[in-house]
Amino acid sequence: MHYDLLIRRGTVIDGTKAPRFEADVAVENGRIARVGDLAGATADVVIDAAGQVVAPGFIDSHTHDDQAVLSRADMSFKVSQGVTTVVAGNCGISAAPLRQDMALPMPLDLLDAPPGQRYTTFRAYLEALRHQPSAVNVAALVGHSTLRAVTMESLEREATGAEIAAMRGLLEEALEAGAIGLSTGTFYPPAVKATTEEIIEVGRPLTGAQALYVTHMRDESSRVMEALEETFRIGRELGIPVVVSHHKVQNKPNFGRSRETLPFIRETMGRQKVCLDCYPYTAGSTMIRTDRGMLDGRVLIASSEPHPECAGRDLGDIAREWGVPEPEAARRLQPGTAIYFLMDEDDVQRILAFDETMVGSDGIPVGDKPHPRLWGTFPRVLGHYSRDVSLFPLETAVWKMTGLTARNFGLAGRGTIAEGQHADLVVFDAATIRDAATYENPTQPADGIHSVVVNGTVAWQQGRHTGARSGQVITRQPTTA
Ligand code: ZN
Ligand code: CU
Repeated sequence: MHYDLLIRRGTVIDGTKAPRFEADVAVENGRIARVGDLAGATADVVIDAAGQVVAPGFIDSHTHDDQAVLSRADMSFKVSQGVTTVVAGNCGISAAPLRQDMALPMPLDLLDAPPGQRYTTFRAYLEALRHQPSAVNVAALVGHSTLRAVTMESLEREATGAEIAAMRGLLEEALEAGAIGLSTGTFYPPAVKATTEEIIEVGRPLTGAQALYVTHMRDESSRVMEALEETFRIGRELGIPVVVSHHKVQNKPNFGRSRETLPFIRETMGRQKVCLDCYPYTAGSTMIRTDRGMLDGRVLIASSEPHPECAGRDLGDIAREWGVPEPEAARRLQPGTAIYFLMDEDDVQRILAFDETMVGSDGIPVGDKPHPRLWGTFPRVLGHYSRDVSLFPLETAVWKMTGLTARNFGLAGRGTIAEGQHADLVVFDAATIRDAATYENPTQPADGIHSVVVNGTVAWQQGRHTGARSGQVITRQPTTA
């Protein structure tokens, strides 16, 4: 037999959590054609994977790559980690629908399109991605804060009945165009005033579509249990699955409270569909905030529009140099992004090791000094947490970034290695895989990634991008399981 691509002599970890096995993997027309002993076969492209692991391409369950897939279409910061699919539109923020002339509030402005290149409908956004594919597949959520910004005169209040109806119409349009669900970010100023009822009423079209509700919750600190309750209530009232984004418990008084949140999530999973993701770091990253709770620990400035020279510096040092209190220095640095050291390592490990937790980077592709999770998340879980810390077996680590994620998001034909599946594949060295990105040097490609294949086309090989742009737009096909 002759194939398009043949990955020879690798150790397959198939994304289902099943034990690894030796096999060749053959690819034809963008799909996995055969898995087994293919010693006699030939192919246009042959990858020798002896001594390496062959896994499904990683699915980044939580990203802010909405603009990057268009403006940085090589997506090196993801492909270099073995990521072949990104879920975009998280935390209430999406690239569409917007108006060309509107002013965007923080943090929506961080992910804005170049002037005049915004998308006024979700369909237009997905069409642009189809005509101008990036190196990775994209599944996209529509953001509730984006819907608020495009609909409401003032974001300082709850939406009126007419505004809710308008947002619902925009959500319907997005779902028809191929959005996989609605995201919210009630933690952020543009949606702080949105009530639970507003979200439920806007979210009505999700029920018929069996689309997802994905949320950066109102509170991940002292009121985290109440925030979980609100999230579950929205899922129950709409009869749809919920995804708790980047689950964490932050600020010192809350350290250890994943011992409360995880059993609550587990218990609720017995009654309704609940999913969660997390990133493998004790620091988070988001817009520059001035509230005390966020400035409790070390704060590293990642980007600043008025003071680009401050990227990579500690807020404390900048405030001392300017002779002002830290909240004032933070205010002067806005708009921009910062890295906040607010979590406890034990909580991060407990949440990551929780059986149903997916891996998601939450990377913000902005500036030269981003949080290292943008370039390091997946190799860090495989190398540091699975191999070095022995938090879980490699098969489990791979499942948390492939099969589990594809199942939760309804990404049919992705996330596992089996005949007929889309040929999204990564070949890596389990002994050497390692995240090289650090807080000081955050844009380093990982070590140990041998080859990355997206829909049958090699996108990354031996530390270099091939120039391929073979990503597709993925829509949700919910399973009835
Ligand atoms: Zn978020
Ligand atoms: Cu996010």
